[in-house]
Amino acid sequence: MVAVAEPLQKRLTIETEEIVPDTTTIRSLDWDRDRFDIEFGLQNGTTYNSFIIRGEKTALVDTSHAKFRQLYLDALKGLIDPTEIDYLIISHTEPDHSGLVKDILELAPEITVVGAKVAIQFLENLVHAPFKKQQVKNGDKLDLGNGHVLEFVSAPNLHWPDTIFTYDNKTQTLFTCDAFGMHYCSDKTYDEDLKAIEPDYHFYYQCLMAPNARSVLGAMKRMKALGEITTIATGHGPLLRHNLVELTGRYEKWSKEQTKAGKLVAVFYTSDYGYSDRLSQAIARGITKTGVGVEMMDLKSADPQEVRELVEIAAAIVIGAPPVTGPAATVAEAAVDTILAAAKKKQAFGLFETGGGEDLSIYPVANRLKELGLKQGFPNILIKETPTEAIYKLCEESGTDMGQLVDIKKAIEQMKSLDSDLDKALGRVSGGLYIITASKGEVSSAMLASWVSQASFEPLGVSIAVAKDRAIEALMQVGDRFVLNVLREDNYQALMKHFLKRFAPGADRFAGVKTQAASNGSPILGDALAYLECEVGSRMECSDHWIIYATVERGRVSDPDALPAVHHRKVGNHY
Ligand SMILES: Cc1cc2nc3c(=O)[nH]c(=O)nc-3n(C[C@H](O)[C@H](O)[C@H](O)COP(=O)(O)O)c2cc1C
Repeated sequence: MVAVAEPLQKRLTIETEEIVPDTTTIRSLDWDRDRFDIEFGLQNGTTYNSFIIRGEKTALVDTSHAKFRQLYLDALKGLIDPTEIDYLIISHTEPDHSGLVKDILELAPEITVVGAKVAIQFLENLVHAPFKKQQVKNGDKLDLGNGHVLEFVSAPNLHWPDTIFTYDNKTQTLFTCDAFGMHYCSDKTYDEDLKAIEPDYHFYYQCLMAPNARSVLGAMKRMKALGEITTIATGHGPLLRHNLVELTGRYEKWSKEQTKAGKLVAVFYTSDYGYSDRLSQAIARGITKTGVGVEMMDLKSADPQEVRELVEIAAAIVIGAPPVTGPAATVAEAAVDTILAAAKKKQAFGLFETGGGEDLSIYPVANRLKELGLKQGFPNILIKETPTEAIYKLCEESGTDMGQLVDIKKAIEQMKSLDSDLDKALGRVSGGLYIITASKGEVSSAMLASWVSQASFEPLGVSIAVAKDRAIEALMQVGDRFVLNVLREDNYQALMKHFLKRFAPGADRFAGVKTQAASNGSPILGDALAYLECEVGSRMECSDHWIIYATVERGRVSDPDALPAVHHRKVGNHY
């Protein structure tokens, strides 16, 4: 008998539930989605949440991802005759929430689409057919009857330029789409299990919201002007109810920390154009890893005065080349001119081109900025094809290089010996010398480490302190696998020298190094004394480092007579 391998099925399911009176959620559960834009660590799938609110009139808040077309439309039709829906509220136009707008309009052409000005404009280009529309701005209200008066809150950049929140005073529910969400898929509709969800909640904030921390604080201020909020109906993951105060409080705390970060990098991109927004998010993520603040601005809808003000306060500027054709071209090009006019000598710059078709060339922009005396923070990024994980990783590393460049003084001060007794005493804490190697899909990385220790017997486990701005950090999320290579006392210098080189963003760190693949896929170094195959079990945030706890699955020693390298140091503020 021949065994036929079952094709790998991605699990997609739908759940519906009444969450507050007259309000039903349709949750599209994407159990196996293992990568979401730039977030490498997405282990727990995601959900796309849509809502029906019934007063005398009925509103549908957001739709779902196009991959759920049949499932979602069947579930919707099971709950309501689509022609009975009066309003389709678009919290923002990102395709994972608005992927089925066209389908809904085909089923119910009389629906009025409600959204921010930019959202309506975007949908007009997407749908290519006339539809009823209602533009809303902050404070506008929509009365559905039976006490369901919906109030709109403008929340630009969370995390799309056209985002609005919708508040139903009767049910004290705020519909926030991406904000306060997380990529987490579970049968539980709500946030009762704080321990289970908090790592994903934080990671999502760091990836999508931290680069827009000022906008987060602005939106939260406007939220405070609303009535009481007892449910936050998010667009991804569990709805907030049990831990609402705690979780929204964290957004406020993290955003305040982020805006106080001191130095700031301005990242200009063009939304919905090529891959500009996603690449700029990867760059922003790399910058925030260094503790430097980021402010993102869409060239397409930027006000010249705001552009000027942002450039003036920024330590560095990143620009994604905008299109030279299409409706956004004139405004975006004018915004680039404004940036060039406001740029100052002491700033750093970085440029990327998305290959979305007809782009403004980045070379004249680079030349102009160099003439003005600005220094280049990372090499120009030129992308001609659909970006791969390796490209997103390159963008993240470019962002990290930029963050490190603008905050170089802080790094130097940190490394200066305090020459105190305490510092010398701490320097007596010693470790070994290891190379951590990790491969995930087409991306790989490595780093030299000495803050490594065995951490448990059963199961066998180790802990490693990884600085927050390390390139390999993205490959050490919970569930990720890596190899801990133990260096040998009589042969560690060449490897140490190699891995301490300053690698360009996206560079292959294993070029010229003898390796073989471990069973978990990560490289084992040919010259290592021993290797251990590890899986990340948990991460603890410790100011400038992550302590990574990993269980050890298997390992081998290459030479039983050789000794491991030991690392002695003099002071506690150097490795
Ligand atoms: C002796 C020595 C030990 C180090 N140990 C660690 C460590 O335990 N954790 C860490 O995050 N970085 C450690 N580093 C720093 C990194 O190895 C190195 O600077 C890093 O690979 C460069 O950053 P990148 O990989 O993000 O480009 C150590 C450096 C030296 C010289």
